[in-house]
Amino acid sequence: MVSIEEILKGRHTGKAVELRGWIYRTRTVGGKAFVVVRDATGTIQVAIARDVVSPEAFKAAEKSLIESAVIVRGKVVADKRAPGGYEVRAEDFQVVHFAEKFPIQEDQSEEFLLDVRHLWVRSQRMTTIFRIRHTVFGAVHQYFRDHGFWEVSPPMITPAGSEGGATLFEVEYFGRKAYLTQSWQLYAEALVLAMEKIYYLGPSFRAEKSRTTRHLTEYWHAEMEQAWAGMDDVIQHAEGVISHACQRVAEERPDDVVAMGRTPDFLKAVKPPFERMTYDEALKLLKAKGIDLEWGKDLRTLEERALTEGKSKPIVVTHYPRISQAFYKARDPKHPDLVLGFDVIGGDGVGEIVGGSERETDLEAIKKALVEQGEDPRAYEWYLDSRRYGSVQHAGFGMGMERLIQWICKLGHIRDAVPFPRTPGRFSP
Ligand code: 4AD
Ligand code: MG
Repeated sequence: MVSIEEILKGRHTGKAVELRGWIYRTRTVGGKAFVVVRDATGTIQVAIARDVVSPEAFKAAEKSLIESAVIVRGKVVADKRAPGGYEVRAEDFQVVHFAEKFPIQEDQSEEFLLDVRHLWVRSQRMTTIFRIRHTVFGAVHQYFRDHGFWEVSPPMITPAGSEGGATLFEVEYFGRKAYLTQSWQLYAEALVLAMEKIYYLGPSFRAEKSRTTRHLTEYWHAEMEQAWAGMDDVIQHAEGVISHACQRVAEERPDDVVAMGRTPDFLKAVKPPFERMTYDEALKLLKAKGIDLEWGKDLRTLEERALTEGKSKPIVVTHYPRISQAFYKARDPKHPDLVLGFDVIGGDGVGEIVGGSERETDLEAIKKALVEQGEDPRAYEWYLDSRRYGSVQHAGFGMGMERLIQWICKLGHIRDAVPFPRTPGRFSP
């Protein structure tokens, strides 16, 4: 049994193979049935000649519908006329399961495709993205492990949030209020004093009501935290991990990259350092482009688009105004109204891929910031112990895996970066 990808790489030319998969497309011309078969790795044309296979096998090939499951035995030939340049000439064709009429036809609405997502995941578009996602996930684990980070696992059910109450999902916890995690933030800052260099790759949840092309309510979050490190140290890791993911995808999945409308060379050029600017510099650049943003306001899609226009690598914006930022971010000692925080921003409308900062180490400053943001410091008592027992400089970031995949694959909407997207309007199938 071989995979279609191996055949298309020329590894079985002239040889007898067994192929298992599903019917992607089918047509009969005279005494020949042409059945395009797909598996997890791609599609290939299978030619079934009436005078070669048994009468039952030919009949099965003629009448089986799209998405029927099949086993093909035959010989691989290089054939310029065949899509992909190779064809399997069947000696035997067996239908394992005759599919009913498949509900997905061509040119169906986005809404319908979301209703039948459990079937649409079989499409070439989705499987191409899944393969790239697989490579990106592997690359992120590899990057952190190769750089001496320990993988640790924070809880998903939590007593308090870290990224603001507006996007907290409440869960009823045996009569008490609990929340789904927005970020490992509070747990990272406890664990970093135990393990020093740590990372996590798992789900985060945001009750994000805004319907945009880059927000999910459940997304996969790659987070890192490092002791004895400042903002610049972790910016280098953010650039490093994004670059590493791009290199791996370019090397391992060049055809999939092209299918998504990027080139391997584009991804290979994503190397550190990325262009950097401060928030104040960004405002000046925007002003020159005719966009006036009031100081202190967060960059929106419009501004992020303008800043990344024509850029082939993501950019890094640093030193945001403190008023718009989470309580744990460190004040800039030179400008107390700024934080030592940064975002990595990707073009093509993807926007913020990474958000991170150095962390405030002073107990009283954190308590004050919590109160300023309307939080009750008592709910954060256990977390504040990280500033009572050996508080040291530390920094970290969070990277939205679907945002990164959206950028790499040039997706118009983030939902296609994940098999079963969760958005404000939908949590099924
Ligand atoms: O900027 P955020 O909110 O930062 C944090 O949660 C920090 N505690 C991370 C840290 O320092 N450990 O989220 C981090 C990243 C964003 O840059 C974005 O890529 C992604 O998470 N993200 C989302 N992705 C998809 N859908 C959403 N609703 C997202 N919200 C954030
Ligand atoms: Mg952010």
